[in-house]
Amino acid sequence: MRVITTIKELQTEMALQKKKDKTIGFVPTMGYLHEGHLTLIRRARQENDLVVVSIFVNPIQFGPTEDYTSYPRDFERDRVLAEWENVDYLFYPSVEEMYPHKLSVKLTVQDRTDVLCGKSRPGHFDGVATVITKLFNIVMPTRAYFGKKDAQQVAVIEGVIADFNFPIELVAVDIVREADGLAKSSRNVNLLPEERLEAPILFKSLTAATTPIDQGERNPAKIENVIKEMISNESNGEIDYVEIYSYPQLKPVKTLAGRVIIALAVKFSKVRLIDNVIIEIAGS
Ligand code: PAF
Repeated sequence: MRVITTIKELQTEMALQKKKDKTIGFVPTMGYLHEGHLTLIRRARQENDLVVVSIFVNPIQFGPTEDYTSYPRDFERDRVLAEWENVDYLFYPSVEEMYPHKLSVKLTVQDRTDVLCGKSRPGHFDGVATVITKLFNIVMPTRAYFGKKDAQQVAVIEGVIADFNFPIELVAVDIVREADGLAKSSRNVNLLPEERLEAPILFKSLTAATTPIDQGERNPAKIENVIKEMISNESNGEIDYVEIYSYPQLKPVKTLAGRVIIALAVKFSKVRLIDNVIIEIAGS
């Protein structure tokens, strides 16, 4: 595995590999790799000649009061894991390398950001779209791999690929969970021990909400309330949102029908966790 820290070196290498008709699978990450990332890497490994993983905690996707500085980092651990997974190139640029000066152009995401994390984290998806565009231009992958835990991010990146004509196939991979149902996330390490015990209620409440739907309930507000009540009763987490939208359009639904996403975000003392389920409403 080669660790590359400069854009120029990676671009040169990728151009060389493309000339040899190699397919390139790309897994963009912010590091502190966990089983969710490793699942993306393994899928990329199966489907491509070469695998590139990037590790870059992107400052422009964090708000001023968010966890940019406390976001967990451990490059040596990530390097060993990536090597173990047979990654070919590990791209590990510095902030100065990625943003040598104030950006003169920044992308603004116009669709699907008025809800969920887009609403709670203003500017977040502009930062994601901007860094992903830079990374796509640097790596020029055949396929790019993202986890469905960030379902809104997947929808936004689909927009980036379509609007800016990147010849890249987006592969969205299922959420990987701990044995108790908590979605794997680099941020889980910042939960206090008692919060870690409470956090599985996020997925439990999402799963429990499917029972009234199976029994015929079609009012989204009632389902949202079932989830909110469970989380409030069984944790000290502060609910940021529990919302249901059509997926992947992310439009409000008056009656549950078709494919919908039930998504939530809950703030614990040092960390905000997200989770979702995407379900197909039977008979609609
Ligand atoms: O999902 C993430 O880890 C980040 O948002 C991404 C896609 C690597 C962009 O910084």
